[in-house]
Amino acid sequence: MPVDRIDEVSIHRLDRFDGLAVQEVFDGLSPDSRFARYHTGTPVLPSGSMSLLGRVDGGDVAALAARDRGGSAIGLVWLIRTAEHDGELAIEVVDSWHRRGVGTRLLGAAEEAARAIGIGRLRADLLATNLAAVRLIGNTAPHATITREGPELVFEWEPRRRRPLRGSARPPPARGPNIRSYQMLKTRAGDALLRRVPAGAVPSDRGVATLGSS
Ligand SMILES: CC(C)(COP(=O)(O)OP(=O)(O)OC[C@H]1O[C@@H](n2cnc3c(N)ncnc32)[C@H](O)[C@@H]1OP(=O)(O)O)[C@@H](O)C(=O)NCCC(=O)NCCS
Repeated sequence: MPVDRIDEVSIHRLDRFDGLAVQEVFDGLSPDSRFARYHTGTPVLPSGSMSLLGRVDGGDVAALAARDRGGSAIGLVWLIRTAEHDGELAIEVVDSWHRRGVGTRLLGAAEEAARAIGIGRLRADLLATNLAAVRLIGNTAPHATITREGPELVFEWEPRRRRPLRGSARPPPARGPNIRSYQMLKTRAGDALLRRVPAGAVPSDRGVATLGSS
């Protein structure tokens, strides 16, 4: 049987009637992934997720789903406006699709969607132990600022345009030091050093740092 490929995955906006997709993705999360997503163990879909879905379409809440070629929902990303130009982001991918690029695609699509609805600053709260999510956001937004809040790392960043612009317009220049430092973190020191990011890059509770400031 052929294995589903990442280039056969499609990204769709959810509407408020897409509860099945929300449930499908939750059902595909292992207990560890549920803990990573909700920061607590939960055997059933938290009612807040369906409430959130009911607010989709209002311009203040948006959700995108990744679907496999059979149409099953395999990933979700939520955008929730918290102020005129600020929003929170939460993302989840079913375990059977982990490490195949679905999270990266969803995050890129979420950045586009955020820009489209006027969100110029995104925030994601991650458990400091959540290496997968730290890498996902660190790769996509190496310019992110990281704040430590107890057991969580708060990433805040400006969503960037993904595709190159036509004509003379160019994408905004990358801010060198952070990107360079993040790449160095990955390529020279590997996973062992990356695991130290929470402790090394964030000096103390509620201290602020970027990936490049360690
Ligand atoms: C975080 C999550 C969304 C990543 O999804 P994904 O589809 O596996 O992500 P990708 O395949 O695009 O990988 C993105 C990066 O993370 C890395 N990564 C993914 N899982 C990893 C793991 N378990 N350990 C270490 N790195 C991991 C990938 O290697 C890749 O980095 P690289 O390009 O430097 O190799 C997924 O693990 C998940 O749903 N976790 C549970 C929910 C959660 O933690 N949500 C975040 C809090 S809101």
